[in-house]
Amino acid sequence: MAYRNTKTGFGLIARVLHWGMALGIFALFALGYWMRTLTYTSPYYQSAPDLHHSVGMVMFALLVFRLIWKLGNVEPDTSDLTRVEHIGAALMHWAFYAVLFVMMVAGYFILTLDGRSFGIFDLIDVPSLYSQKGLEKLAGQIHWILAYLTMALALLHAGAALWHHFIKKDRTLISMIQGPND
Ligand code: HEM
Ligand code: HEM
Repeated sequence: MAYRNTKTGFGLIARVLHWGMALGIFALFALGYWMRTLTYTSPYYQSAPDLHHSVGMVMFALLVFRLIWKLGNVEPDTSDLTRVEHIGAALMHWAFYAVLFVMMVAGYFILTLDGRSFGIFDLIDVPSLYSQKGLEKLAGQIHWILAYLTMALALLHAGAALWHHFIKKDRTLISMIQGPND
C-alpha cells in the first residue's frame, strides 16, 4: 500500500485527505447555508453553528497538513495532458488552497474579532488573536463570498475530472481513486 504519491498516482494519504475534505467542505457549505435560516426558537440554533465552527477548524488543520504533505510529495505524472490542461489544473489546485485558507481564516475572525474565544467540540479553546470590533461584518461577507466561490470551483473541477474520465478516457480520475498502479 503506497502512502506517498508516486509518478502514477496519488498515495493513500493524499486520497483520504482529498475525498474526506471534499465531503467535509460540501457538508459545511450545506450546514452553513442552513444554519443561517434558523431562528432562536429552533433547537439547533446553538448546536448547528457550534458543529460548523468545530468541523471547520478541523478542516483548517487538515488543509495546513495537506499543503505540507503536497509540498513533500512528488506530483503524479501529467505528461499526457496538454499544456493548457496542465496549467488549468495547477491554477485550479492553487486557487483551492488560497480560497479555502482565506475563507477559513475569515470564519475564525467572524467569531473572534470581538475579543472572545470559541471552542472546538468543547475540547479545545481557540483564543482571539486580534480584536477589532465592527469588522465582523466584513469577515462574514468575505466568508460567504469565498464559500460560494469554493462551490463554483468544485463544480468546474469535478466537471473537468469527469470529462477526463468519460470523454478523454485517461487516468486522471483513477489516479485520485485507485492511486498508483505500480
Ligand atoms: C470549508 C469550510 C467552510 C465552509 C464551506 C463554510 C461555509 C459557510 C456558509 C455557506 C455559511 C453561510 C453564509 C451566509 O449565507 O451568510 C457560513 C457561515 C459561517 N461560518 Fe462557515 N464555512 C467553513 C468554515 C468555517 C470556519 C473554519 C469557521 C470558524 C471557525 C466558520 C464560521 C462561520 C460563521 C461564524 C458563520 C456565520 C456567519 C454569519 O452568521 O454571518 N466557517 N459558512
Ligand atoms: C470541495 C471539493 C474539492 C476540492 C477542494 C478539491 C481539491 C483538489 C485539489 C487541491 C487537488 C490537487 C491535489 C491535492 O493537492 O490534493 C485535487 C485533485 C483532484 N481532484 Fe479534487 N477537489 C474537490 C472535489 C473533487 C470532486 C467532486 C472530484 C471528482 C468528481 C475531484 C477529482 C479530482 C481529481 C481526479 C484530482 C486529480 C487530478 C488533478 O490533478 O486534477 N475533486 N482536488
